[in-house]
Amino acid sequence: MVTRRRTFTILAFLRAGLLALAGAAFITANPASAQPRAGQPASEARPAALVFGGSGQLGSDIVRMLVDAGLEVTVFMRPTSSPERLAGLPVEFVDGDVTVEQDVSRAFQVRRYDLVVDALGRAGADVGFFAISGRHIATWAKATGARQIILHSSVGVGNSRGAYPAERYAGMQALFEAKQAGERAVIDSGVPYTIIRNAVLRDPPAGTPEQARLVADERVYGTVSRRGLARLTLGCVSEPACANRIFHAIDDGLPVLR
Ligand SMILES: NC(=O)c1ccc[n+]([C@@H]2O[C@H](COP(=O)([O-])OP(=O)(O)OC[C@H]3O[C@@H](n4cnc5c(N)ncnc54)[C@H](OP(=O)(O)O)[C@@H]3O)[C@@H](O)[C@H]2O)c1
Repeated sequence: MVTRRRTFTILAFLRAGLLALAGAAFITANPASAQPRAGQPASEARPAALVFGGSGQLGSDIVRMLVDAGLEVTVFMRPTSSPERLAGLPVEFVDGDVTVEQDVSRAFQVRRYDLVVDALGRAGADVGFFAISGRHIATWAKATGARQIILHSSVGVGNSRGAYPAERYAGMQALFEAKQAGERAVIDSGVPYTIIRNAVLRDPPAGTPEQARLVADERVYGTVSRRGLARLTLGCVSEPACANRIFHAIDDGLPVLR
């Protein structure tokens, strides 16, 4: 695992600085994380985020919003991942495979992260991925003093089983159980967490109004866009109302597809 592709340009750096000012409301919501840490220059005083799955569809939307809010963002991704969705963004990259614990541990030792976001996805039958990745991320976030983990998960997991269409549950059970193990690892880590579950992900055409919201009722099943999920993620950063909570994300403007 190596760090690579430092994409800072002068313009991008200036932009990030200006946007950091725009994100001041968030930053002051967590004054401790806004202070320089011992031995660090003042230029590193902005909150730092490590995003898993940042090269993906949801993850890249989240990365963009975190950057726009003034965070220093590092994206963990496989050497084979395409950084295309992140082109031009002032982010750092750390190479690694989340299923390899040593890769995850090294990523957490590059620097200390205030925020860890898990927006990983994995198509196919390898459902154990979600248990392993959740465990690795939770273990090393805890060991290195992260202040918050935001985990994207699925409706159907844990207490939300009843919300998932019964006729399709059996086919999803193994996936949901693996995701539940991932959620459990994050919760048990003791790091303040926010779990945001989605049921149906649909990205409407550009220009469609986005009205995503979080609900605490684990019986709720609905549709949400990745753009909406990304905005809700940003809204939970350092937000006390999101601490140690599980939410379902829905957008009332999108049709509920079962
Ligand atoms: N309910 C629904 O309708 C629905 C549909 C799709 C997704 N989802 C959920 O939504 C979330 C994100 O979905 P998405 O569509 O944004 O996913 P996506 O575009 O497929 O992105 C997945 C990300 O995970 C990364 N990843 C996969 N395996 C990895 C590994 N071993 N090590 C490091 N990174 C790895 C991928 O990296 P690479 O670039 O290397 O592949 C990519 O960045 C997930 O929670 C997913 O389960 C829900």
